[in-house]
Amino acid sequence: MVCLGNICRSPLAEGILKSKLSNDFIIDSAGTANYHKGSSPDKRSIAIAKKYGLDISNLKGRQFVISDFDSFDFIYVMDESNYQNVIKLGRSKEDFDKVKYILNEVYPGKNFEVPDPYYGGDQGFENIYQMLNEACENIANNLLHNND
Ligand code: 4NP
Repeated sequence: MVCLGNICRSPLAEGILKSKLSNDFIIDSAGTANYHKGSSPDKRSIAIAKKYGLDISNLKGRQFVISDFDSFDFIYVMDESNYQNVIKLGRSKEDFDKVKYILNEVYPGKNFEVPDPYYGGDQGFENIYQMLNEACENIANNLLHNND
């Protein structure tokens, strides 16, 4: 799960997807920027997660690295700028093909964005929780029921 800062959207997505899958699946998040390296998630992301029974307070921010292309089968980005920043680091078609807009799991091919809630109010976090929960439900179902 990749966003810009790795403190609002992607740690929430990480917590949501982890709650829907077993530990057999390695799920992590990262930011394309490095300015929140080692930081806890934004308190508003921690709060919305808690509202829905998830504890993401122990997650720590990190920056996306090229070796993430080797470590993960799927790389879900939140918006177009994340997409461009991750694609820039790709080395091969195999790398590029791993990068997906997370909302395409709900609205295939539309490239809709999970809006950055950082400068908004609490409603923005409720909104992104609902979007990410729906997307992660589909991701989990696909991983559990498809063999591709
Ligand atoms: P995120 O949100 O990409 O969902 O973690 C942001 C967090 C911090 C900043 C921007 C977006 N920032 O500019 O510090």
